[in-house]
Amino acid sequence: MTTDSRIDRLPWGTGDDSQVWLVHFGSKSTPLIAQLLRELGVRTRILNHADDELTLAAADDSKLPKMVILSGGDQSVYDANAPTIRQGTFEQLRKNCFLLGICYGAQLLAKLSGGEVRRAKMGEAGLVQVRLSEDSASFSGYRGGRAIMNHGDEIERLPEGWQRVASTDDCQNAFVCSDRIWAVQFHPEMGHTENGRELLFGAIKRAGVSIDYRVDHAKFVETAASWMREQAPQGTVLCGLSGGVDSSVAFRIAELAFGERLHGIYVNTGWFREGETDEVRNVFGSRHVSYVDASEEFYEALDRVEYPVGLKPTEAEYRYYEAVRKCIGAKFIDVFVGHARGLGRPASALIQGTNAADIIESQTGLKSHHNVALPKQLGVNILEPLAGLYKSEIRALAHHLGLPDEIANRQPFPGPGLAIRTWGKLDRSYAPPLRQANLILEEVVRKHYPDQENRPCQYYVALVPLASTGLIGDERVIGYAWAVRMVWSEDRESYASLEVKALTQQVQDVLSKRLTSEVRMEDGTRFVRVFYELTGKPPSTTEPH
Ligand code: XMP
Repeated sequence: MTTDSRIDRLPWGTGDDSQVWLVHFGSKSTPLIAQLLRELGVRTRILNHADDELTLAAADDSKLPKMVILSGGDQSVYDANAPTIRQGTFEQLRKNCFLLGICYGAQLLAKLSGGEVRRAKMGEAGLVQVRLSEDSASFSGYRGGRAIMNHGDEIERLPEGWQRVASTDDCQNAFVCSDRIWAVQFHPEMGHTENGRELLFGAIKRAGVSIDYRVDHAKFVETAASWMREQAPQGTVLCGLSGGVDSSVAFRIAELAFGERLHGIYVNTGWFREGETDEVRNVFGSRHVSYVDASEEFYEALDRVEYPVGLKPTEAEYRYYEAVRKCIGAKFIDVFVGHARGLGRPASALIQGTNAADIIESQTGLKSHHNVALPKQLGVNILEPLAGLYKSEIRALAHHLGLPDEIANRQPFPGPGLAIRTWGKLDRSYAPPLRQANLILEEVVRKHYPDQENRPCQYYVALVPLASTGLIGDERVIGYAWAVRMVWSEDRESYASLEVKALTQQVQDVLSKRLTSEVRMEDGTRFVRVFYELTGKPPSTTEPH
């Protein structure tokens, strides 16, 4: 059966009455700005510049917020189809609200106010030093420091009445302002920017925005549970359980809401980490969760995905792994729906742990997150109780709900799992050694980075099926290699930019020893090399594909 399905989201932490509007022009920064404001205790309403949502919202004077933030974008404000806001809307906002522009948003505010933007002599990308212009030590609490820049254009001539607040070596107008407008070329929302939080806090104080959001975990759980009960007053309610923090928190709250009416489905794709299923089973039990081991089905489906021939290797690899992702996604839906139907109890809703950043990313076209095929196949509506929360809040809620640290602090794990952590044509024989190698890395990370604060935000070992020579005992042996990837984030888990850090000698030694001596392919093939990836993001992505 396929039918229309609706997504219902718990309205929490957002709303038309938010004192801050955040206008999206295409940058990945939009969810980060919203998250930083949330950390400061402020709710935001996200508006897309494109579909006149902003013009419509701004038309009603009585609903205008205290502050409007214009976020980044990757075009030039002078491009023919550059995203903008109508001059009339701008005037309306300028009269009534405090305005903050960030990067592209800063240039747009300068242009709309009568200033000039042009191609920078020297664009800036990465960390630069921002210095306050005058001798003052601080401007509304902002004290300068290192900041993330990413621009090719700059504000060349200031609009009348504006003044310079801060500069960098290559950008004079790094932070400029008038009485009720601040335009900031760098990115205060990025974790690597020093004093970015203070800058945003200074702006909200100037704008007169009051702190109107406080986290009360008990209240959230109660509200979310009763909201879910209202949305699905009867019938069986399903929840996909992956062991990730978002789905685990959603499931725990759904247990409180629905009791025996809830049924969780956990699908083992065969590309999970060692012990993962047991870990989830130990936490959630088996009373109202099905653990479906569909490994064989996934392996068979993947065996049928052909590696493209006759293409450039880069193109072939890209196409193949896109096909692998699609194959795993489609198989997951098949298995989930098949199992749900087999329960013999028609479902009335499906709970998903989608978070606020996921939603901003899909609403603003940054990513397509929502798996709408699954509820359509099942003919049910989706309930998203965590739609108003960011990852850090969900992790805190996980602790509040008593979920173990392994789940509350769990690193993200991609849907296709270990299957995208190799190169060339995938082979089911890679799964057991990959599982074992990743368990070793997990043990090493837990031991050598005991403090969650210093732990990499994501880490894995990928299998490099590239034959090369090693020396084991006195014998020259041809074997495969491992690639260890560990990345650190400062960006509120947005994964927009990631850092790589040097390993200590001890970690290096233990990893190279254990990964080459303890793990083998099932046919006995050894691993004779261990690589460590040196590149951050950009230019590398987290995953190899
Ligand atoms: P990249 O590789 O783009 O990844 O730096 C950013 C984050 O997204 C995760 N990722 C995925 N998650 N399905 C997922 O559910 C996927 O196909 C996928 N690809 C990447 C990645 O692990 C990292 O956390």
